[in-house]
Amino acid sequence: MADDIVYLNGELLAMQSACVSVMDRGFLFGDGVYEVIPVFGNRLLRVDEHLERLQNSLRKVAIDNPHSAQQWKQLFARLLEANPGEDRALYLQITRGVHQRRDLAVAQPATPTVFMMVLHIDPVAVASLSQGISAITVEDFRWRHCDIKATSLIANVMLKRQALDAGVADAILIRDGKVTEGTASNVFIVRDGVIVTPPKSECLLPGITRDLVIDIARDNRLAHQQRAIDETELAQADEIWLTSSTREIAPVVELNGQPVSGGAAGPLWHTVIELYQQCKQALRQHER
Ligand code: PDD
Repeated sequence: MADDIVYLNGELLAMQSACVSVMDRGFLFGDGVYEVIPVFGNRLLRVDEHLERLQNSLRKVAIDNPHSAQQWKQLFARLLEANPGEDRALYLQITRGVHQRRDLAVAQPATPTVFMMVLHIDPVAVASLSQGISAITVEDFRWRHCDIKATSLIANVMLKRQALDAGVADAILIRDGKVTEGTASNVFIVRDGVIVTPPKSECLLPGITRDLVIDIARDNRLAHQQRAIDETELAQADEIWLTSSTREIAPVVELNGQPVSGGAAGPLWHTVIELYQQCKQALRQHER
């Protein structure tokens, strides 16, 4: 929101006064990476895992990490203090910085641009989540480095638009007949009581919520597998879920016009969302 305080290159300032050069490679090329970290109370969920994924993204695009994990955490605390609230998410973006000429080649070492803001997210009520969403399947035409959390999201914007144009909330992406992920989420299905999600690869983002759901399944002895899911299996799934930091675990209750799990959130979703809410609650209590 307009009166929010944001962080830009070492400074906290009002969002309206935060300006980046038109020669910033993030602006010209989408030459940058980002993270979205959920915050409950004042605690960041799985912050070390998010920082590790950030480091991996930076390494893959050869941008030096401008801060240590300790420094990042101090910056997060400063920004959160300046934007008090309950359930929020922290958005951070690092670009390769400003170069004098528009040139794909990285000719000179540049100082990365570091930008952070707080995203306001409506508290996710399990009751409203349980109503579920409708989705379609679409061809995943993105590049082969979807494991990098890159700011260049034009393909995801186009894919999301395909879903909205079809009158549904989201799209599940299919590459070579196999499920990859959602437009901004990972995909799980339930088949004969087993929770299944595709294995990590260059075709999908290694979601932190995805890993948390797998940990929840393991810790609670719920049968689960990481393996490829083909399009036909998706169509026959007993349950389908989309997971992300901002949407938690959203049940898909209609796919390509056909009801999933009888058009309502399924029983395993109810079990896992309850366990996920307990993780959030434990984080909040840890703060007090
Ligand atoms: N997106 N896959 C894609 C393509 C994503 O953009 C996201 C998250 C995920 C889930 O990752 P995680 O569980 O770590 O949030 C998977 C964030 C929320 C976004 O772009 O806003």
